[in-house]
Amino acid sequence: MDAMTDLTALKSELTAAVAAADDLAALEALRVSALGKTGSVSNLLKTLGAMSPDERKERGPQINGLRDAVAAQIAARKAQLEDVALEQQLVAENIDLTLPAQPRRKGSVHPTMQVMDELIAIFADMGFSVAEGPDIETDFNNFTALNFPPKHPARETHDTFFLPQGEDGERRLLRTHTSPVQVRAMNAGADKPPAAWIAAGREPPIRIVVPGRTYRKDSDQTHTPMFHQIEGLVIDRAIHMGHLKWTLETMLAQFFETGAVTTRFRPHHFPFTEPSAEMDVGCDRSGGELKIGEGADWLEILGCGMVHPNVLRNCGLDPEEWQGFAFGCGVDRLAMLKYGVPDLRDMFASDTRWLEHYGFSAFAAPNQASGLS
Ligand code: PHE
Repeated sequence: MDAMTDLTALKSELTAAVAAADDLAALEALRVSALGKTGSVSNLLKTLGAMSPDERKERGPQINGLRDAVAAQIAARKAQLEDVALEQQLVAENIDLTLPAQPRRKGSVHPTMQVMDELIAIFADMGFSVAEGPDIETDFNNFTALNFPPKHPARETHDTFFLPQGEDGERRLLRTHTSPVQVRAMNAGADKPPAAWIAAGREPPIRIVVPGRTYRKDSDQTHTPMFHQIEGLVIDRAIHMGHLKWTLETMLAQFFETGAVTTRFRPHHFPFTEPSAEMDVGCDRSGGELKIGEGADWLEILGCGMVHPNVLRNCGLDPEEWQGFAFGCGVDRLAMLKYGVPDLRDMFASDTRWLEHYGFSAFAAPNQASGLS
């Protein structure tokens, strides 16, 4: 066999091997065995150095031609195999659009927050704005400024959570009601003479509602240690009980979405209002279902009264010039009543199944125009 025949045989052998390589790894192994450092074609190229010039002139182009031809075949086969691999991948990755989607969990608005929003919408329509205060209060704002005498047993009726005495000597507590925000709204306090806030443009009339968390050591079916209240405060000239009654009756009729509600004021005692009352709303419990607004039964709904002159004085207002009314109402109770929640404690158990059942869509914020709930 002459050298040329050898080259021809090697070429057809490699051509067949390239065609037979059926994946990229096999093709790469073949490339190394032919064109790698010690590959069959590379070894032939190395023989050129030992040849005579004449022989090299003849054999050089033949061997280089073989190398180029094999390299071209391998490149072409590689492109082909890559196409096949891509095609297979595309087929395998086909997305089945008929598969059912993974369910997505939606959050919902807690009934207490829904009722807060409903009440705020109602009071906003009556010209009230929203004021807020901190959950950790001073004894002064929660009790003293509100006319609870020091050491008076009325402080104990609130079952207060007290915090350790602060470095400033002030005893702090978790507020037992939203009423301290009355004091904050009127900007009272030993360090703030009335002239300061009147100059700041915050003089009456004041018309605020105060939604917020409140705390008392209490736990049963209708009491939880943390609960929510909404407080109302109106301070103006010549304000009387009639304004209070109209405001609350209007609020309840709109909240319970009944044309009118029957209500009654029962005399009561709060240190910070005089006269004070609890307001009941007429209801019907016959037939096992609670109907609000009609019937022979009464349901206690809130505490209220005319702001006590001592509170006005504590806040730097002259009771001869300014009067006002205030009320405070348990929001979770209202949510239970309106949406039929049987146990108050479930409201704060953070059970998502409960929330899915009793919760509200976050996209349906209540307003008076489109209906509250
Ligand atoms: N702060 C009272 C309570 O929590 C409610 C109330 C507020 C009563 C305002 C009268 C006026 O029981």
